[in-house]
Amino acid sequence: MGDAEQTGAARWWRGGVLYQIYVRSFADSNADGVGDLPGITSRLDHLQWLGVDGIWLSPITVSPDDDWGYDVADYCDVQPVLGDLHDLDELITQARARGIRVLIDLVPNHSSDRHHWFVDARTSRRARHREWYVWADPREDGSPPNNWVSIFGGPAWELDTKTGQYYLHNFLSSQPDLNWWNEEVRGAFDEILRFWLDRGVAGFRIDVAHGIVKDAELRDNPPAGPDDPEAVRRLGQHQVYNMNRVEAHDVLCRFRRVSDPYAPNGVLMGETWAPDITRFAAYFGTGEDELHLAFNFPYALAPLDAGELRGIVEATEAAIGAIGWPAWTLSNHDIGRFPSRVCKGDEKKTRAALLALLALRGTPVLYFGDEIGMPDTAVGVEQRRDPAGRDGGRTPMHWNAEAGAGFTEPDVEPWLPLGDASARNVEGQRHDARSLMSLSRDLIALRRELPDLREASYASLPSPSGVWAWRRGESVTVAVNLSEQTAALEGIAGEIRMGTERARNGERVGDRLSLGPWEGVIVSSARTTS
Ligand code: GLC
Repeated sequence: MGDAEQTGAARWWRGGVLYQIYVRSFADSNADGVGDLPGITSRLDHLQWLGVDGIWLSPITVSPDDDWGYDVADYCDVQPVLGDLHDLDELITQARARGIRVLIDLVPNHSSDRHHWFVDARTSRRARHREWYVWADPREDGSPPNNWVSIFGGPAWELDTKTGQYYLHNFLSSQPDLNWWNEEVRGAFDEILRFWLDRGVAGFRIDVAHGIVKDAELRDNPPAGPDDPEAVRRLGQHQVYNMNRVEAHDVLCRFRRVSDPYAPNGVLMGETWAPDITRFAAYFGTGEDELHLAFNFPYALAPLDAGELRGIVEATEAAIGAIGWPAWTLSNHDIGRFPSRVCKGDEKKTRAALLALLALRGTPVLYFGDEIGMPDTAVGVEQRRDPAGRDGGRTPMHWNAEAGAGFTEPDVEPWLPLGDASARNVEGQRHDARSLMSLSRDLIALRRELPDLREASYASLPSPSGVWAWRRGESVTVAVNLSEQTAALEGIAGEIRMGTERARNGERVGDRLSLGPWEGVIVSSARTTS
């Protein structure tokens, strides 16, 4: 590929901003209380107004919904409650007309136990699809083959009484892990990728990209120690043999080899929970042969603290060098919404966190509702639908303040309860230049306008305690004051192109930049064309 092809369209995802849509909660077109594909199509104007370059749809494939689409029963058709293939074609066409690409979720680590592969696999030890899953004999006392635990709790093994062997499930017992040592599984997924690329999807968010291949010998994981991070202690073990195996890279490279010729502009974006930054960096391969984008979860889970965030970004930059291109996010369907989780409902903090997110080197991924600062919704125990209780960050979008919030008809009960749509909604923020939604839109537009903000390198700048400041290339400086104190930075000159306090936009900075509590600015020294 020549240099010219390397830039522009072929790397649209580098300059772009992505937007995750949890399909069931975005827009309900047929008044059944569940969001769907035609609903998304009907709301493309909003996404175009916001200026996003691509949308990632949470799973749209056929599923019994034990894990809300992440348990796939048919990889090549659409879940009926969400629409059909024709609706997807229409969405892709309409989105393309607005310059928006459509990525879908690919779930290769496991299928549903109702997928015909698994239904067949469990019929006998000699079944056609038996080796498509991970089976092992019980230990002598009848207990599971090793000590691996499921992310959702309990052993990662389920005994299949009919055939007398255990099968592996790193998630729910109805989500059997596929056996990626099996060449037929690899071949089947080549076809699945091609099926969707043929339909015009612009790529995939790859679920559990870090976990696809398991240790061939199924060795025990080492136990957690008292000084290990909370996530390790919670599981009681280091996931050394069932996650982050080096062999996963072969599979991701294979996806890339399938995808590139089909869709030269396509994107592979991995869900990459890695135990350390070196292993995170490895998911970019050489920069040309593996994932285009990998989610940086340490950043997503960090507190809004200047030192912590700077440390994570510096470590990431050092590890990935110029070849890697992270996907930065603050909210998703698993970790909840950042205005609540990180910013505790504080508007100033929310604005500062959003400005920082949209000014990093990498691709920012907004979660639907981030643009209006939508908080998590309290979901009572009896209303919960998710086995892991992640419902609070999955409730329907607030389009307006009316009954049904513009998500569904006023008299229809949504699949999950609506939050307080009158407090924040798209309609209310659209014409308010000071709203978070206007800030989101203007930050996205500024990325498009300033090449350094979009593509240039990152370098931390010295800054007082509580402040995080960095350069992007030669011309852009970003500074966020993540503290309650006023702060000042020296040696910064240019024009404030975007501030969390809108009143400062256009202000010239001579040398000294002062920032109020939780204030952030993007300063450019590039000559403007106007
Ligand atoms: C990923 C998904 C999560 C799901 C899990 C199992 O982590 O983001 O929602 O429960 O995979 O598929």
